[in-house]
Amino acid sequence: MKAVQILGDKSCPKIVTNHSLKTPEPENDDILVQVYAAGITGDEVLWPEVYSTPTRIPGHDISGVISAFGPVYDGPLKIGQEVFAFLDADRGQGQAQYAICSPDEVAPKPASISHAEAAALPIPVLTAWEAMAEHGRIRSDMRVLVTGASGAVGMLFVQFGKRVVGAHVIALASAQHHSALAELGASQVVDYNTPDWERLISDVDVVFDTVGGDVLAKTWETVKEDGVIVTVGDPPPPWAFGRGTAVESIGNPGVRYLHFIVSANAERLRKASEMIDGGRIKALAVKAFPFREAEKAWLHAQQRNRGHKVVIEFDDASHDASAGKK
Ligand SMILES: NC(=O)c1ccc[n+]([C@@H]2O[C@H](COP(=O)([O-])OP(=O)(O)OC[C@H]3O[C@@H](n4cnc5c(N)ncnc54)[C@H](OP(=O)(O)O)[C@@H]3O)[C@@H](O)[C@H]2O)c1
Repeated sequence: MKAVQILGDKSCPKIVTNHSLKTPEPENDDILVQVYAAGITGDEVLWPEVYSTPTRIPGHDISGVISAFGPVYDGPLKIGQEVFAFLDADRGQGQAQYAICSPDEVAPKPASISHAEAAALPIPVLTAWEAMAEHGRIRSDMRVLVTGASGAVGMLFVQFGKRVVGAHVIALASAQHHSALAELGASQVVDYNTPDWERLISDVDVVFDTVGGDVLAKTWETVKEDGVIVTVGDPPPPWAFGRGTAVESIGNPGVRYLHFIVSANAERLRKASEMIDGGRIKALAVKAFPFREAEKAWLHAQQRNRGHKVVIEFDDASHDASAGKK
């Protein structure tokens, strides 16, 4: 089968295409998906799992059709069904013509969008949902700040925070994205290019940071004394994975803060699929590249100010840069 590979190491990753990898076989209750499109998160070159898998195939976000089941699969999905999936953070290997999934990773694809659009969604949907429901525990009476709001995760979080929960959502993003974020439901938009932007924002119950570094550090100025800061920004802060405490916590002892890695959750994907088909949540804009241009796709996915998610399509013949429906 055809697959993308990341060779080299984290300090010097090399994206290549390979046309002769072995198609994986489903075991136990595995689900084998024929991948039509696979999403890219540019920072995946920094994630450890691809360097520890023998295939070196990256990719956690896919959309396609079910091709086969392992011998003991007894769930509700059917051969030929259109699905999208998040392949667990430890595993990945989605940027290939075929990918193995477990039942808790796969859900019916939203029918109203293309495979390219569906492949852009699993990580952003699941990360935003987990931050909202589990780590931030956001309620309608809360003021919430999301950094990197114009990014894939941020745009889903704005929508969940406002349209699903009804919170006051403050979106931090460059000015060019402000009108789009207001349309998605942001209650307030702030430009990170404004000097001392953190002084324009106060009394925040929950910060959801998707940027990290200086931006994350500044959010400590915005949060209430008993507020919460949740981050997924890459690279993770020095205190992540139980490696110590945040220096800012010394002056803000009541603030709870945490970093997390997104978990698979087929039920959340299934509900998000219904919300998209019902018009409650808007899918992300995507730019699709054919498999043969995988390296170009990865370079594009690592650029700032894109405003869209990058996906690789595996069926070159039906490739459509405008992401038309398959
Ligand atoms: N831990 C996890 O489980 C997990 C899960 C998903 C994602 N992530 C990480 O979360 C981050 C966001 O993911 P994504 O898919 O949303 O990425 P994305 O679509 O590339 O969006 C990144 C966002 O961050 C903004 N940004 C980048 N650098 C910035 C800076 N210095 N100051 C202010 N804003 C800045 C970008 O704004 P501009 O467009 O203006 O540049 C953009 O809005 C990535 O680092 C990703 O690796 C982690």
